[in-house]
Amino acid sequence: MIAIGSDHGGFDLKQEIMAHLEKRGLAYKNFGTYTPDSCDYPIYARAVAKAVASGECDRGILICGTGIGVSITANKIRGIRAALCGDCFSAEATRLHNDANILTLGARVTGPGLALKIVDTFLDTPFSGDERHLRRISMIEE
Ligand code: RB5
Repeated sequence: MIAIGSDHGGFDLKQEIMAHLEKRGLAYKNFGTYTPDSCDYPIYARAVAKAVASGECDRGILICGTGIGVSITANKIRGIRAALCGDCFSAEATRLHNDANILTLGARVTGPGLALKIVDTFLDTPFSGDERHLRRISMIEE
């Protein structure tokens, strides 16, 4: 199950991503916002991060205008490794190396075509499991 959330700045892109996930047959849970009205991104970032940290959802996708606000917020939750990605190389590397469990996107920065490819790369790339990466990830939590 994929947790997805956005503020108003990421609302339209979130709709496109949800339609894309449906086409791929991937289950998701939308944690809001549910309208394009102005709102506060920490509410939705925290809800998605808690769903992933608790194990309710396996991965998360968060979108705001820049991807920065939701990233900062999500990374405050223990166990969350949220990665802001604007390209497929970063999306692949953060799965392989960081075992990132939340992808964040900036809807005012990254167009929908590229964003969907980043989403696919993030969801389809497994963690490498390499010892050096496991060691570094465990150091993050110290
Ligand atoms: C909202 O205007 C904007 O500040 C928000 O979407 C995000 O970019 C914050 O980091």
